Amino acid sequence: MTSKPFGKLSDGREATLYTLRNKKNTTVALSNLGAAVVSINVPDKNGVLGDVLLGYENAQGYVDDDSYLGFIVGRYGNRIAKGKFSLGGKTYRLGINDGENHLHGGKDGFHRKLWDATINAKAPFDSVAMHCVSPDGEEGYPGMVSLYVAYTWNDNNELIIEYSGTTDAPTIFNPTSHGYFNLTGDPRNTVLDHELMIAADQFTPAGPERIPTGKLQKVEGTPLDFRSPKRIGDCINAPFEQLQTAKGFDHNWVLNDFDQTVHRAATVNDLKSGRFMEVLTDQPGLQFYTGNFLDGSHKGKEGIAYQCRSGLCLETQHFPDSPNRPQFPSVVLKPGETYRQTTIYRFSTKD
Ligand code: GAL
Repeated sequence: MTSKPFGKLSDGREATLYTLRNKKNTTVALSNLGAAVVSINVPDKNGVLGDVLLGYENAQGYVDDDSYLGFIVGRYGNRIAKGKFSLGGKTYRLGINDGENHLHGGKDGFHRKLWDATINAKAPFDSVAMHCVSPDGEEGYPGMVSLYVAYTWNDNNELIIEYSGTTDAPTIFNPTSHGYFNLTGDPRNTVLDHELMIAADQFTPAGPERIPTGKLQKVEGTPLDFRSPKRIGDCINAPFEQLQTAKGFDHNWVLNDFDQTVHRAATVNDLKSGRFMEVLTDQPGLQFYTGNFLDGSHKGKEGIAYQCRSGLCLETQHFPDSPNRPQFPSVVLKPGETYRQTTIYRFSTKD
């Protein structure tokens, strides 16, 4: 593993870039700014390395970002309607940063923090643990929360992301990793040729502001049916209201077999490069987002402007607006409990 300065923040603190390397000589780069994954370099079917993650050249890019590229987002990944919820008989109001709603922990969420990073020298593979504390009342959330996110890059080209979080007062908690993938290795290509599978029979339909209606709907007979691998470009423009109001895919799938053990939630196959990605998680939900709001206004690595459909997100999490939907799996975290999540992005190739 190597580390190097990644650029100064406006308050003079220095961000660091860590590069994790495995025996296959493939790499993952991480920054302690927002605990972001900055790049993932993996081979195509001919052994040619390519960076399959959208990101920026330096810390300033991450400071200027408004699309949460690669960050850990939270305390609550995804939306909470009107930024309002009740817990223990008390109503809490969170920062509003997306229309009338709260999104991804608010404007000063986890993505704005400079995390403490510790290299785990004893681990069998390159591994860095990021830690941050969110004080009581930050962005309106109750309780002081402490979160560790350990990133490991093993010899099987698996990026293992392990979260563990605690609180000193009852609160709600739902962090996630917000990477944008493009398996072609060149984000000037869209992700429309990628074939996607999502192991989910149902999704949570949402209104135009992306807030779930509270119902679960079967994917069967809809363009959101990814139970068998399907080319994204073949269904993204289907005349289906849920897609039209979201300007593409931006929905939460209800993963099958949620039992808190880690299993395969999704696969992505880029037929041309042969790169194949599997997403494994212990979470109940998966937000699949096709970069609908990327508009070319932000330039990433190598000066490439990120456009609508330059990347896709597969965010493992609880369902949006769960604090206001008692029928959804609970996101309440109490003192004495530990929030845990394990998510794995595994890379290989197919001929
Ligand atoms: C996604 C979300 C989108 C959009 C994006 C950030 O997680 O589903 O609606 O907010 O983050 O631009």
